[in-house]
Amino acid sequence: MITHIVGNRPQFIKLAPLYHAFERAGYAQNIIHSGQHYDENMSAVFFEELGIPAPYVNLQAGGGSHAQMTAKAMVGIEQELLEKKPDLVVLYGDTNTTMAGALVTSKLCIPTAHVEAGPRLHSKENPEECNRIVTDHLSDILFCPDALSMKNLQAEGLGGKACMTGDIMYDTYLEISAQADQAAQAQEIILMTWHRQENTSSKERMESILQLVERLGEKIICPLHPRTRKCLMEYGLWERAQEIENFEIIEPVGYVEMVALMQRARLILTDSGGVSKESSFAGAKCLFMMDAEVWEDLVQIDWIRKVDPQKEESLQGALAFAKEAKHIPQAQRPGFYGDGHAADKMIQALQERQFL
Ligand code: UD1
Ligand code: UDP
Repeated sequence: MITHIVGNRPQFIKLAPLYHAFERAGYAQNIIHSGQHYDENMSAVFFEELGIPAPYVNLQAGGGSHAQMTAKAMVGIEQELLEKKPDLVVLYGDTNTTMAGALVTSKLCIPTAHVEAGPRLHSKENPEECNRIVTDHLSDILFCPDALSMKNLQAEGLGGKACMTGDIMYDTYLEISAQADQAAQAQEIILMTWHRQENTSSKERMESILQLVERLGEKIICPLHPRTRKCLMEYGLWERAQEIENFEIIEPVGYVEMVALMQRARLILTDSGGVSKESSFAGAKCLFMMDAEVWEDLVQIDWIRKVDPQKEESLQGALAFAKEAKHIPQAQRPGFYGDGHAADKMIQALQERQFL
């Protein structure tokens, strides 16, 4: 039995191709949902759209502090794994759910694979960085989305467990984008996502991001993460955000709609690790609102430009970048993240290294 442990929006998107590849290969599997994300449009919609069966259990570990969430998920995961005794556990990405899974499987000595191993922001202030470091060190086989992730793992002495598979999110993106009718869409919107703790935990920071939105002065569509909505309200900034002309705040969208929005974009303004990378799949340039190392290959070719909205000089540069940004046709997009067959490569590596 293979058990997948997921709990957050991006993990459902990463799970889909691997679940289907295991299914095609005839392996028995089940899914544990930590409950970290729980709204219909943050969780259930992805299972429906991506054809993933419902998890057999939901541990209801959402909300609370990092420690509370991680601890609650750990207790639930331990109980399930002791009962079901899987042969292999698969963990995804860098969330509290991921790290909770890694801490439990390593102590129960259950072989563990980590999907999307190796990216590093080189900033321990970033909670996801801690989750990645712990998970990479404790897991038994590490699937890397790109060459830089392989290098990071080698530098930490983990090269022996690492396999270059390419990015599994590209598998999902290709599958869904093949269904979309690109020709019908003009490619001129600015798409925005905003949810990182670093960008939502102070009023000043949130105000500076609203100022950036104002100064961009164009139509911006923003499917807003519930965390950000709550923080805007808490800081008394919600009305101000709604008053910005051309700033269209919408509910979080499912992945089919998200892909359609990315395909309509000439620019993506985001602090999301996943969305900043997906910008290169969809042909939209990216303004990244974090002072951290992210997808450095894309930064090097100026596909991703970092912006600190609290610094005037950086903001000026970002506005100029935004003005220039045009939708890039398929043939001119970079290809740092594999060929869209990461899931098959993962199964092959698991078989070769006798995890299956
Ligand atoms: C988490 C992950 C982050 C990932 C992101 C994907 C950690 C430390 N962070 O951040 O790596 O990029 O998921 O989106 O694990 N909330 C709701 N409804 C939901 C989910 C969340 O209202 O369905 C609200 C709650 O107030 C919650 C807050 O959002 O407390 C933050 O949620 P949480 O899962 O802690 O962090 P994310 O910002 O989603
Ligand atoms: N996404 C989505 N709907 C939204 C916002 C994002 O389907 O309203 C997708 C996005 O395309 C990407 C994933 O969710 O595939 C990224 O999730 P998020 O930004 O929450 O997490 P991160 O990548 O920062 O960990």
